[in-house]
Amino acid sequence: MLKIAVCVSGGGTNLQAIMDAIDRGTVTNAQIAGVISNNPNAYALKRAAGRGISAVCVSPKDYGSREQFNRAFLETLDSFAADLVVLAGFLVVIPPQVIEKYRNRIINIHPSLIPSFCGKGYYGLKVHEGALARGVKVTGATVHFVDEGTDTGPIILQKAVEVLPGDTPEILQKRVMEQAEWVILPQAVDLIANGRVSVQDGQVRILESEQQTGREESE
Ligand code: GRF
Repeated sequence: MLKIAVCVSGGGTNLQAIMDAIDRGTVTNAQIAGVISNNPNAYALKRAAGRGISAVCVSPKDYGSREQFNRAFLETLDSFAADLVVLAGFLVVIPPQVIEKYRNRIINIHPSLIPSFCGKGYYGLKVHEGALARGVKVTGATVHFVDEGTDTGPIILQKAVEVLPGDTPEILQKRVMEQAEWVILPQAVDLIANGRVSVQDGQVRILESEQQTGREESE
């Protein structure tokens, strides 16, 4: 059973999508061990606590230095004995020692098709403002592993979403969440929980499921 720690800063709809998928059985072999927010008022904390999941606030604001925060963040993750860390709208830079210790075990959801509209400065509504300003007709979301760069780690899954006439950043954000983020984030968790994701030379390979392998053999 894969133990997941989910890091959040806001509403927690992506966290909700993972919890719902576990309930429905579309994510298997996984359980949420704990939720960390840097924002004490994040609604995501309430969503977690309402399900009896340990939910804690670890904020840089509560520590004298970044180094102290980094240590506390790592200790909290370790206390959940997490096999996988899911960044679901987490707005804090992940400490280097966490990236090192959890190499290829941290995933992030980004609301665009990387490498478009990603990197420094592209977060929240700014991503969708960028897409609309450029006039792209298709955008989407990406789940990727986290490395030392910003949105540069190996890509696991992507899903495209149409940009429609009259879209505002808010409307587009909502469509990207509904049609892409809430779909591919649980999917990526399920693939990892079932041992179907491997990383070689900076590229992700998705292994076939036993069902698929069995079907091919019997064909
Ligand atoms: C999502 O759009 C995610 O892609 C971005 O932050 C937002 C988080 O929303 N990184 P929520 O807290 O999951 O509702």
